[in-house]
Amino acid sequence: MSIEKVNQFVQSDLEIVERRLLERAANLYEFVDQAAQHVIKGGGKRLRPILTLLSARAAGCSGGAMYDLAAAMELIHIASLVHDDVIDESPLRRGQETLNAKFGNKVAVLVGDYMHARVLAVLVACKAGEEVFEAVAEATQSMCEGEVIHAYQAREFELKLDEYLQVIELKTARLMSCSCRIGALLGTAGAKAVEALAAYGHAVGMAFQIVDDVLDMIGEESAFGKPTRNDLREGKMTLPAMYFRDNCSPEERARLRELMLADERSPEEAEWIVQRAEAKGASKYALKVAADYTEQANECLKALPESGAKEALIHLARGLAVRDR
Ligand code: IPE
Ligand code: IPE
Ligand code: MG
Ligand code: MG
Repeated sequence: MSIEKVNQFVQSDLEIVERRLLERAANLYEFVDQAAQHVIKGGGKRLRPILTLLSARAAGCSGGAMYDLAAAMELIHIASLVHDDVIDESPLRRGQETLNAKFGNKVAVLVGDYMHARVLAVLVACKAGEEVFEAVAEATQSMCEGEVIHAYQAREFELKLDEYLQVIELKTARLMSCSCRIGALLGTAGAKAVEALAAYGHAVGMAFQIVDDVLDMIGEESAFGKPTRNDLREGKMTLPAMYFRDNCSPEERARLRELMLADERSPEEAEWIVQRAEAKGASKYALKVAADYTEQANECLKALPESGAKEALIHLARGLAVRDR
């Protein structure tokens, strides 16, 4: 099964989620509605809803609340992106103008908050159980903690591997794990299946953020849909940059340190970092780490009975590890 096949597999479910998203985020006030629709219609891979849908199906669920739960996870994710773009002062997301660029930071902050309010409304409307509320609250909290720590990691030149991994776990992996968990909770496959799918989502999330960090360094903006070299611009160490730092000459390390600790880096300086890092095999190393998480993710699925959804999850994890957007 290729990634296109995975998309075909979830397409009809995802169309329902797409409609649900627009309905659930609709607002009586025209300007609020316009801003909310702008971000929802802005595309995106819909990865978190896909994880919820496939986990639900892999755990034996075939409808009901899974569409609303999938929509709720995308709303949390969209809120995080809207706020992240304010923090990063980013003009481009999903190949489109960001809310902060289009309407300013004030609107973007409030629309992000509005999305979180709608998440609560959606969960109440679909009569989500206590376990779902608990998982969603925990994952949202982690995402915020990860974003706060990440924001203050700028110029942490000596960032350690475990510190890096902790932040990507908090800001990205836990929300993906939660997306899987709440889908799986709807199924009939039992607690072991729920834990297996949550562990799968966690490992997929770790791999996902590492690949995002690699694409930030060496990706193409046209495919990626958002500015590349954003992390470098902000002086943030990510896995490929850390690999370069730890595998270069003392002279290169001193230059890297000076550049990363400076107030800003010119495009030429960023180019030097990327070229030298690539010459040392930085992204190759980071992608290998991501591939290990991907394998770990698929290992978790062995606990589940065979199904089309399970197969789709396996191929989804592999596809995400080699993506360009
Ligand atoms: C972007 O997530 C934020 C990260 C966790 C790296 P996605 O790459 O899933 O964003 P969209 O939804 O496809 O735009
Ligand atoms: C942010 O990670 C993840 C979120 C929780 C929003 P990034 O800062 O790497 O996300 P992008 O690259 O802007 O999408
Ligand atoms: Mg960002
Ligand atoms: Mg990024």
